[in-house]
Order: sequence, then C-alpha cells, then structure tokens
Amino acid sequence: MRMLAAAISFLAMLPAAAADEIAEGEKQYLASCAVCHGETGRGDGPAAADLAAPLPDLSLLARLNGGEFPYWKVFITIDGRYLIPGHDQREMPVWARDYLAIDAPKLGPRGGEAAVGERLHALAAYVESLQR
Ligand code: HEC
Repeated sequence: MRMLAAAISFLAMLPAAAADEIAEGEKQYLASCAVCHGETGRGDGPAAADLAAPLPDLSLLARLNGGEFPYWKVFITIDGRYLIPGHDQREMPVWARDYLAIDAPKLGPRGGEAAVGERLHALAAYVESLQR
C-alpha cells in the first residue's frame, strides 16, 4: 500500500516537473536560441538573415517525423559534440561545449556534465512544446 501511494504521488509529480523543465528550457531558449531560430522556433530570429544555411522550422519537427517528436535526435543535435566535422558543416554553436565551459569550473567535470545534460533536456523539452 505504501508502495502504491508512493507510486501515485510520484506520478502526480511528473507533470509539475515537466512544466518546470519547460519553463527552464524557455529561459535558456530565449537567451541562446531565439536570436537565430525566433521566439516560436520558426526561423525568424534577428540573426537569421546573416546565416548561410536556411534555418529549419523547429515547430515542425514532429510533423516532419510522422507526428512523433524526435526527442533524442534534437537532444544530440543541440549537444553538437557527436556530429562528425566535415559531414555536417554546422553553423549552429556546439552548445554542450559552451555550457560545459560555464558549468565544469563550478561543478567539476562530472557535475558539469550532469548540469549540461539538464540544460539539454530542458531545451529539448521546450522545443517539443513548440510543436504545432
Ligand atoms: C547562430 C545561429 C543559431 C543559434 C544561436 C542556434 N541555432 Fe539551432 N540551428 C542553426 C542552424 C543554421 C541550423 C541548421 C543546421 C546548421 O547549419 O547548423 C540549426 C539547427 C538546429 C536544430 C536541428 C533541427 C532539425 O532540422 O533537425 C535544432 C534542434 C536546433 N538548431 C536547436 C537550437 C537550440 C535549442 C538552440 C539554443 C541552445 C539553437 N538551436 C541555437 C542556427 C542556430
């Protein structure tokens, strides 16, 4: 019975945690991403015109993937460290490297990596919330 109660209260917490995560992601998105991708992800940020690559519409990623948001692909794309140079001429900054440079000096290499993971999850969750 205690287990069941614990499981239920855990489940009840999930939507709240997700809402927190999306709010955190929104803060980071507006600070780091909107300049290119635009506030709603449609590729109309103030710096968009200066880029050589056309900006993808981030609010269509689920539609372009058969209706399912490609969460891990988005996560890894934002991270950026695992894309092979030369195979992907990327204009977007490698966010995990930039964030690690901020987080690792404060938290150490492992703590920094964990904090970067949280940032990436928050950003991916926020991009997911932009789908239309
Ligand atoms: C300097 C401009 C710029 C900024 C800032 C930027 N991006 Fe990008 N982003 C791009 C460009 C350009 C592409 C297309 C691929 C490429 O050329 O790098 C892209 C691609 C993407 C993709 C892949 C979409 C697809 O079609 O699969 C995602 C997801 C993404 N960006 C998310 C983000 C997030 C989240 C942030 C903030 C942490 C961010 N971007 C900040 C320029 C930017």
